[in-house]
Amino acid sequence: MTTTAPRTHNAPHTTLAFPEGFRWGAATAAYQIEGAADEDGRTPSIWDTFSRTPGKVRNGDTGDIAADHYHRMREDVALMAELGLTDYRFSVSWPRVQPTGRGPAVQKGLDFYRALVDELLDHRIRPVLTLYHWDLPQELEDAGGWPVRDTAERFAEYAGLVADALGDRVPLWTTLNEPWCSAFLGYAQGVHAPGRTEPEAALRAAHHLLLGHGLAVGVLRERLPVPAQVSLTLNLAAVRPHTGSAADADAVRRVDALANRIWLDPVFRGSYPEDLLRDTAALTDWSFVEDGDLAVISRPVDALGLNYYAPTVVAAGGHAGPSPWPGAGEHVRFVPAPGPRTAMDWPVDAGGLRELLLRLRDELPDTPLLITENGAAYDDYADPEGAVHDPERIAYLHAHLAAVHRAIADGADVQGYFLWSLLDNFEWAHGYSKRFGVVHVDFASRRRTPKDSARWYAGVVARGGLPV
Ligand code: NOJ
Repeated sequence: MTTTAPRTHNAPHTTLAFPEGFRWGAATAAYQIEGAADEDGRTPSIWDTFSRTPGKVRNGDTGDIAADHYHRMREDVALMAELGLTDYRFSVSWPRVQPTGRGPAVQKGLDFYRALVDELLDHRIRPVLTLYHWDLPQELEDAGGWPVRDTAERFAEYAGLVADALGDRVPLWTTLNEPWCSAFLGYAQGVHAPGRTEPEAALRAAHHLLLGHGLAVGVLRERLPVPAQVSLTLNLAAVRPHTGSAADADAVRRVDALANRIWLDPVFRGSYPEDLLRDTAALTDWSFVEDGDLAVISRPVDALGLNYYAPTVVAAGGHAGPSPWPGAGEHVRFVPAPGPRTAMDWPVDAGGLRELLLRLRDELPDTPLLITENGAAYDDYADPEGAVHDPERIAYLHAHLAAVHRAIADGADVQGYFLWSLLDNFEWAHGYSKRFGVVHVDFASRRRTPKDSARWYAGVVARGGLPV
């Protein structure tokens, strides 16, 4: 693959330049790419159980083999190097490292991540490690899962095992990826593992995920042998009203409480939003929040990761039944946003990313920001010559990077961008039907083919900015 940008693109007037030292990354997650589900002592996570349950994942797909990254790790790091990435965001599979979620680590599991990190460092790519990207050991779910307080303690113990093994060479750590999805898609709507539809349990899960985060921050600060940054990644919602009515404004408030402030307030202010407690009062009295928990949850972090794909438009309305919005589902209706859409049927609207970045600039002026995920699925295929043309993805990435550039110009402290995703992978309940990669994976042969977007991104990285 040719990664050198054409000379003319280096001229300053043709480039929207990003700040010196900006991190240019790509992201993946363990269950979505690794495969090797039963190897080297790994035991099932909730996603193995869920995906092996008929009817839960499209086409009955599982992560048993996925992109087979476990066996192709060096090839994949070589691809990253060809792209010129400065950083790579990956997650550690908890059941590969600590199969039952308790007790000592499995050396072979740790060895894999050690080898990955070493390979990255050999290629001058900074490892950015996420501890939890949704693969809870099944045994911990059998003991109650995230709705149970002990799971937070177990997570902190697991964080310590990974810190001891990799702490000397990983400069940036993320505790949780998108706890909204773990809590509300997993325990309220039931469309993600473990597939439970218990709104009260989902709120408990949210609290225990936050507690696990705070406990893990403490453990990392104590046990990392060299100074490193510690962060958390949220999928904040850019939520907009359908109309200017007071009722629609209230729908926005409810979704903002459950998507955004339920995480931001405890972590950055040490309290839960009053209106959230009110909206959910019929479900719970929140007595699972114990004295001292909020002090743990609000331990300072060094950066906030933001995952952004599309904005959310809401109106007053809603319906009874399983929804990912405990206490709000009956009051909020989701309205399709106008405009072009990706293969996920998500609207393409980079303005939402800018909105969120400016909000975070205003609300958290001292917290550096990272875009830890952004990207799009399209129905890509390899043509007879073996090329994958994905102009829509290039347009999507271009528009979103331009929005980041503008937000930086407006004072948002955005320090990096991680494209989702390096590889086509297991897209959760959609299985392999949705392709987010800039590198195409043929799921029969596991052959990798960089798409046009990979070459385009390599050019952006090489010139440190966007072609205009
Ligand atoms: C966010 C999740 O972190 C990631 O696992 C997922 O594949 C992407 N969104 C796309 O849906």
